[in-house]
Amino acid sequence: MEMNKSVFVTGATNGTGFAIAARFAAEGYDVFIGSRRLADAEAAAQKITERYGVFAKGYETKIGDEVNVKAIFADIGSRGYLLDALVLNAANLGIGQVSLEVDMKDFMEVYATNVGWNFMMAREAARQMKEKGKGAIVFITSNSAVRVTENRCAYCSSKSAILAMSKSFAVDWGKYGIRSNCVLPGMIKTERWQNNVNNTKYCLPNYTPLHDIADFEDVANAAWYLGSEQSRNTTGAELVVDGGMLAQLTPNINRRLWEE
Ligand SMILES: NC(=O)c1ccc[n+]([C@@H]2O[C@H](COP(=O)([O-])OP(=O)(O)OC[C@H]3O[C@@H](n4cnc5c(N)ncnc54)[C@H](OP(=O)(O)O)[C@@H]3O)[C@@H](O)[C@H]2O)c1
Repeated sequence: MEMNKSVFVTGATNGTGFAIAARFAAEGYDVFIGSRRLADAEAAAQKITERYGVFAKGYETKIGDEVNVKAIFADIGSRGYLLDALVLNAANLGIGQVSLEVDMKDFMEVYATNVGWNFMMAREAARQMKEKGKGAIVFITSNSAVRVTENRCAYCSSKSAILAMSKSFAVDWGKYGIRSNCVLPGMIKTERWQNNVNNTKYCLPNYTPLHDIADFEDVANAAWYLGSEQSRNTTGAELVVDGGMLAQLTPNINRRLWEE
């Protein structure tokens, strides 16, 4: 039986990850959702099925656990799927890690998640994609992989490592028809962002050339492009979704936005 196309999205119970899952579902993909909490993954999967009429299933992702990673892909395979796309959205944000003081355990945990676990997930997905003869891996990294923010050494450098990891996959697995690309969001309008008074008080979107930051759907559209046949000749690439922030040396501030 010919299966629907399918995608696995990590950290996809809400926000950016859910928007990515929904974007693929809207295109008719069956969707596998990863979360550290099985009940939340299952609830998100149910929402996807109700809204888009595609098959969806939630999985508990145990960060850094290779047995769990293999079990997830074995289960997907046993259902007759060979994954078309993997979107690695979940991340340890490593917030507030002051470089002179950070505990090495906390520092390494950021790497274990953002680099090590993402590697395991990508490799296992690639084994299915190799069997299929094609597939797309999309990393949601960050523009802070290129220009950093204060007290985020582990996070920024791990996101930077992802850029090189993605290029390695592009080079190593291109011969199997597997593509690997990165989305580099800038600030996203998450609940965390909305609740941080500094963002509204200092009107941070005003600092980007477009005077706006990303909606979930902006990141989801980029992930869809890189994860689908739309980008069939693109691999090892980076797509920045940051309102133009990386392009500028100093911000060209629209003062009217503050005064209104
Ligand atoms: N928000 C921004 O402004 C921004 C800017 C640039 C790049 N990004 C990147 O864009 C992606 C989505 O960002 P977001 O702000 O929407 O992310 P988020 O909601 O903070 O995190 C996405 C998911 O990652 C999982 N996660 C969170 N902390 C984790 C931890 N310590 N260890 C393992 N998994 C963890 C959670 O999934 P479960 O709890 O369901 O497991 C969460 O729902 C991330 O890769 C992020 O690095 C975000």
